[in-house]
Amino acid sequence: MTPSLKLFALSALAFASQGSAFCFGPEPARRICYSDPGATPQNITLQEINYVAGYLRFYGSQKGNPQFYTMPLPDADNCAEWQVTTKGSTWVMAKLVGDDAASITFDDLANTIDGGGSKATPEQKAAALIGCNTAGGQMGVVVNATDPRYQQPQFTNGTFTNQGIIIKLVRNPDV
Ligand SMILES: *[C@@H]1O[C@H](CO)[C@@H](O)[C@H](O)[C@H]1NC(C)=O
Ligand SMILES: *[C@@H]1O[C@H](CO)[C@@H](O)[C@H](O)[C@H]1NC(C)=O
Ligand SMILES: *[C@@H]1O[C@H](CO)[C@@H](O)[C@H](O)[C@H]1NC(C)=O
Repeated sequence: MTPSLKLFALSALAFASQGSAFCFGPEPARRICYSDPGATPQNITLQEINYVAGYLRFYGSQKGNPQFYTMPLPDADNCAEWQVTTKGSTWVMAKLVGDDAASITFDDLANTIDGGGSKATPEQKAAALIGCNTAGGQMGVVVNATDPRYQQPQFTNGTFTNQGIIIKLVRNPDV
């Protein structure tokens, strides 16, 4: 891993709290490419987009690392938008737009960006954030509902939902 890549805001499940949040500035789950009318293309690189997705998938697969990216309450109240990781000119942001504490697998986070890594079909890539190409974009995390990890107690007992996290690929404003 290169030293320039950092992983932020990995909150331990232990700090999760019950209860509801409010987001007065929600955003839709549908994909918005920043090449769409009215948006600003971010001019990021496909190489970096593939890198951050691959890194997040790898990170979640490592023994001892959390398998989930978590936005607990009250930390993520009021539409918190956190930097997940960065590489070069590319920033990966996560925004909580729902009213509940949310948690998703790093696999779903990575797949939302690159459509499934080296196994992704052209159709899966086209439908993922990388399908927005160098413009970047945003969309709700595509949750793999059949993943047995979402059957763990923290999901079935309502401590966390896997809904309500929007991922954005934007340009580092400093480069
Ligand atoms: C990307 O490039 C376009 C065309 O030069 C420019 O209009 C736009 O502001 C750039 N985006 C960013 C985030 O710098
Ligand atoms: C979803 O999860 C199931 C069970 O782990 C797995 O077999 C399948 O490949 C996953 N699908 C995707 C698109 O990752
Ligand atoms: C839900 O399950 C999680 C994980 O086992 C646990 O930490 C939490 O206390 C449980 N909450 C309730 C309300 O049962």
